[in-house]
Amino acid sequence: MADKDIVILAIESSCDETAAAVVKNGREVLSNVISSQIALHTLYGGVVPEIASRKHIEKINQVIEEALSQAGVGLDDITAVGVTCGPGLVGALLVGVAEAKAISYARKLPLVGVHHIEGHISANYIENKDLEPPFLCLVVSGGHTHLVRVLDYGKYEILGRTRDDAAGEAFDKVARAIGLGYPGGPKIEAAAGNGNPDAISFPQAKVRDHPYDFSFSGVKSAVLNYINGCRMKNQDFVPEDIAASFQKAVVEVLTAHAMLAAQESGTRKLAIAGGVASNGALRGAMQAACKKRGIEFYHPSPILCTDNAAMIGTAAYYEYLAGTRHGWDLNAIPNLRLGERL
Ligand code: KG4
Ligand code: ZN
Repeated sequence: MADKDIVILAIESSCDETAAAVVKNGREVLSNVISSQIALHTLYGGVVPEIASRKHIEKINQVIEEALSQAGVGLDDITAVGVTCGPGLVGALLVGVAEAKAISYARKLPLVGVHHIEGHISANYIENKDLEPPFLCLVVSGGHTHLVRVLDYGKYEILGRTRDDAAGEAFDKVARAIGLGYPGGPKIEAAAGNGNPDAISFPQAKVRDHPYDFSFSGVKSAVLNYINGCRMKNQDFVPEDIAASFQKAVVEVLTAHAMLAAQESGTRKLAIAGGVASNGALRGAMQAACKKRGIEFYHPSPILCTDNAAMIGTAAYYEYLAGTRHGWDLNAIPNLRLGERL
């Protein structure tokens, strides 16, 4: 490690993945370790917050040690500790925040709290070495659906957001309704591959006077009504057709709003981020729509779309360069807003 290298140890524990990574100079991922709790939460059909926190406590030291060892570094090589401090499940976040504080206190390292969505957006920098702000980013995760203008590193303007369910949440709820289980996104995508996207016409909601906002509760209810209708008529329904038609409705609305925002803001660069950004149909539709308009399209690899700590390391690096330092009073903030300074 050269003296001038900035090496971040990053920690992420906002939901159901315990993750740690080592990131050098912002965009070089030396390790990215993720311990997923998915198998555990599948038993309950969704994330159980108390179980998530307990599992984070069990795993976090092991995951950090693994991240350091895979990167071939020790704590002496680390410049600063970055950690997700919100938004997310408060008990889950607290595990990562307490751990990060303990390491930085013990090793006298600067502490940098990171917004989880800033992490998701920053995942785009890792594999796209030429990507620099300004650009537009569609953030689609289990808890958030935002159309964000990235004005500069750490500077965001939210153009649109969901009024109800997040896109990922809609995938999860529809998957549960058609019997696919948790986690819904990948299961819907797999089922949709064997279904007809034109079998059922599901609604694509618009929010009046807010063309960049989203609403997914309508499509979710339409799926539930469709299933109930079939049951009342004693008809079988085809889960694969529902999955494909639902996915099509969501993908089309996400793509249309993103294109409208790109066009009206005159952006030439568009990125996607968050767990739903690993969806092949969404990536394909965005890629095609961008190509048609001469917009450069960016997306992280699927493993960097879902929760991970490498993205937190990249975000922490730019925050570190901008002078962000947090004290021992850094807290877990479950409803932290993007761009809110602590
Ligand atoms: O970003 P993420 O890992 O965690 C949050 O910050 O919320 O996103 C998780 C969400 C879940 O709702 C999951 O169902 C969805 O991303 N997801 C997908 C896919 N993979 C994960 N949705 C659609 N297609 C996928 N392939
Ligand atoms: Zn996330």
